[in-house]
Amino acid sequence: MTSQQPQVIRREDYRPPDYRIEHVDLAFELGAEETTVRSRLTLRSDHERSQGIRPLVLHGEELDLRAISLDGEPLPDGAYSLDADSLTLHEPPEAFTLEIETAINPKANTQLSGLYVSNDVFCTQCEAEGFRRITYFLDRPDVMATYRTTLRAERAACPVLLSNGNLVEEGDLEGGRHYAVWEDPFRKPSYLFALVAGDLACNERVVETRSGRPVRLRIFVEHGKEGRTGYAMDVLERSLRWDEERFGLEYDLDLFNVVAVSDFNMGAMENKSLNVFNDKYILADPETATDADYAGIETVVAHEYFHNWTGNRITCRDWFQLSLKEGLTVFRDQEFSSDMRSRPVKRIQDVRRLRAAQFPEDAGPLAHPVRPDSYIEINNFYTATIYEKGAEVIRMLHGLLGEAGFQKGMKLYVERHDGQAVTCDDFVAAMADANGVDLERFKRWYGQAGTPEVQVNGCYDAQRGSYDLTVTQTTRPTPGQETKEPLHIPLAIGLLDGQGRDIPLTLGEGPASDTLVLPLCEERQSFRFEGLPKPAAVSLNRGFSAPITVRAEQSGTERAFLMAHDSDPFVRWEAGQDFATALMLEGSEAWRAGEEPSVDPAFIEATRAILTDSRLEQAFIAEALALPSEDYVAERMEVVNVEAIHAARGALKRALAEALRADFAQLYERLHDSAPYSPDAEAAGRRALRNAALSYLSVFAEAEPQERVRLIEHYRQADNMTDRMAALRLLVDLDLPERQEALDDFENRFGDDALVMDKWFALQAVSDLPDTLERVKALMQHPAFSLERPNKVRALIGSFIAANPLRYHAADGSGYAFHAALTLKLDALNPQVAARLLAPLGRWRRFDAGRQEKMKAELQRILAVPKLSRDVYEIASKALG
Ligand code: PHE
Ligand code: ZN
Repeated sequence: MTSQQPQVIRREDYRPPDYRIEHVDLAFELGAEETTVRSRLTLRSDHERSQGIRPLVLHGEELDLRAISLDGEPLPDGAYSLDADSLTLHEPPEAFTLEIETAINPKANTQLSGLYVSNDVFCTQCEAEGFRRITYFLDRPDVMATYRTTLRAERAACPVLLSNGNLVEEGDLEGGRHYAVWEDPFRKPSYLFALVAGDLACNERVVETRSGRPVRLRIFVEHGKEGRTGYAMDVLERSLRWDEERFGLEYDLDLFNVVAVSDFNMGAMENKSLNVFNDKYILADPETATDADYAGIETVVAHEYFHNWTGNRITCRDWFQLSLKEGLTVFRDQEFSSDMRSRPVKRIQDVRRLRAAQFPEDAGPLAHPVRPDSYIEINNFYTATIYEKGAEVIRMLHGLLGEAGFQKGMKLYVERHDGQAVTCDDFVAAMADANGVDLERFKRWYGQAGTPEVQVNGCYDAQRGSYDLTVTQTTRPTPGQETKEPLHIPLAIGLLDGQGRDIPLTLGEGPASDTLVLPLCEERQSFRFEGLPKPAAVSLNRGFSAPITVRAEQSGTERAFLMAHDSDPFVRWEAGQDFATALMLEGSEAWRAGEEPSVDPAFIEATRAILTDSRLEQAFIAEALALPSEDYVAERMEVVNVEAIHAARGALKRALAEALRADFAQLYERLHDSAPYSPDAEAAGRRALRNAALSYLSVFAEAEPQERVRLIEHYRQADNMTDRMAALRLLVDLDLPERQEALDDFENRFGDDALVMDKWFALQAVSDLPDTLERVKALMQHPAFSLERPNKVRALIGSFIAANPLRYHAADGSGYAFHAALTLKLDALNPQVAARLLAPLGRWRRFDAGRQEKMKAELQRILAVPKLSRDVYEIASKALG
């Protein structure tokens, strides 16, 4: 155990602040190694003075206090005290102004929280608690103030000076310096403050809001990269339009600035009118960005823009309410992409993501509710549960209330709470009140962790022509929650007749419909449907109506039937995934027993039917052809056996490739696209399908020269990054000379493009070749790699840890030892990033005894280090359990 025992923050301890900050006037004298910050705060006590005077405790970290005065008078030493994370005024008056001067070193800020320098650009990151690394403040989201910000810097190095709100003044100063003054008329919490100063190029577009107000949209990037901002700009404009049309929400300032920087802990940040982005989510052109990158840009640009209402105008009372803004905003960006692209394909991708990141979290030692009850370090709670499960909870509300009811609720939410810092309960109350419904039981989704398992049993009575569905829900215990209560689960179902048509269903007095949403509210419930022919198959959780795991006895025949016929595209896809998962589990058992796995021909035929169904969208077929990941199969195993799963997945892929070889080859030829690259959904779907076919054909590349040629030619002739990466992804798994040829070529072409080199690092890290860890270690010495740059760390090391189960879980423990050593090194530089990579070590309970011991030993090794960050301490200690 470490000597330090960081404090646990609890939701039940929430108290409103003793003081309000009404206005903030900031002046920055910017220098890379020394920046001085003068802050002038207008403060007012917020409680009865008759109860006694409360001290004012301001947050502050790594600040050098230079001066402090109250109402213009320097404060005497005894009037205040300082410690490592706060400044306390012992007896402040009721209302006063406080002036504080601090100095900070942006260059030395490797944590990338607060004010830092990225490629010579000054920028800030204040969520969640970074503002306290800039100046002493009440750094909590329920303290909302107006801000006026003055920036002074060298004109040559920093011609661009930005902050929130409107530019009200600018001009020259002596000694080659200049200044700009910004004023934000909207009250905001400190986590939404931002400044940027640097030498940046800009892409600008003026659009009009629907009420006719012009808005200047600007995207700032490093010089030379302006040409890669067009897509992000289009997305920004489309987001603005969409939020008006679908949500009735209009932009509220004359300016919307976006800045892309190369060093950033997360994806992007929604600072009021000054979004700061990881440049990965801004920069794109066909040569350097894949279709997935374009889709990611669409998601993130829209997400940050949508935060202007859901997050900024209405913010969180405290950080336990984080999902109030994140879950809702993810739901909104998902809906945006669904309206822009194929809704079913988007749904499939979102579910894949939820299952890959959130289900394991919910099943492991870091499980927490959508609204957590406690934390040590809030930065550890920007999780898949808060974001993705939070969005699923909002989606269920949307399903229960319908689009019109949901929008009624949104309208009331905005009317009631604009300008406030509120809670998840406030949001649900607005939804309930606007629709006159009771959502009390539904609210359990916010407080209860764990993925519910829903067991479904169907039974047909031929004599009566009735079908009974019995449904039970259980949620396994999670840390701190031994017993679970039943949730309100909206389970969408359908029954198919022998021809694969929907059988209209009625529940109680309701109208007949092809899809029924069963309101599961109890641990066990039965539903009876009368006057039916015998159903050939039951279609469960249509559209993934609830974030649950469904367990049902289904035969291969039924799954194949659903794959072929279900009217719900999600279930068609899901039935294929279930079928493939079952086959891989069987295959793993066979591999362990030293037997040849056999593949049910029904699966092959059902896959062929999807492959050749010309009515299906190509992007959908590509999703259907993508076998479940090794990690997904691992989740279904009692004790994870990484080698067996890898072998079984490879065998299933080979079996499909052999049986459908002619179809794949034909598809590959037919989908050849001679038109110039376009990132639109249809063209992307065509590429995805063609590259899926290539992936199956690549299983022959080792033995057959002509398939090797196909693969390397696909790489050589690619006129876009999507195709280039598709070939390279396959080549890195092959121990062939073509592998090195392509990797070298890629490095030659893109060696000086940091973003593109991330792809090169990531691909080598996910290779299943046996020497992958050695290569990863060697690549850490590559000049383009740096531990101080989160994108590099995530690309090379994050990919190895989180996306290469076979090599990460090497039986000798080498992957774990590497991970632990790296964690300690990184913790000294950037604790947020170090902690964020740690989760896989916490999955030790899922493995065999040998691996368990090795994983636990590494966690203990980490925890034995004195001076660990709170971030890593929290994850490692919880992971050890
Ligand atoms: N609030 C950001 C978003 O979801 C994410 C973020 C969190 C960025 C913390 C930086 C720091 O859009
Ligand atoms: Zn967000």
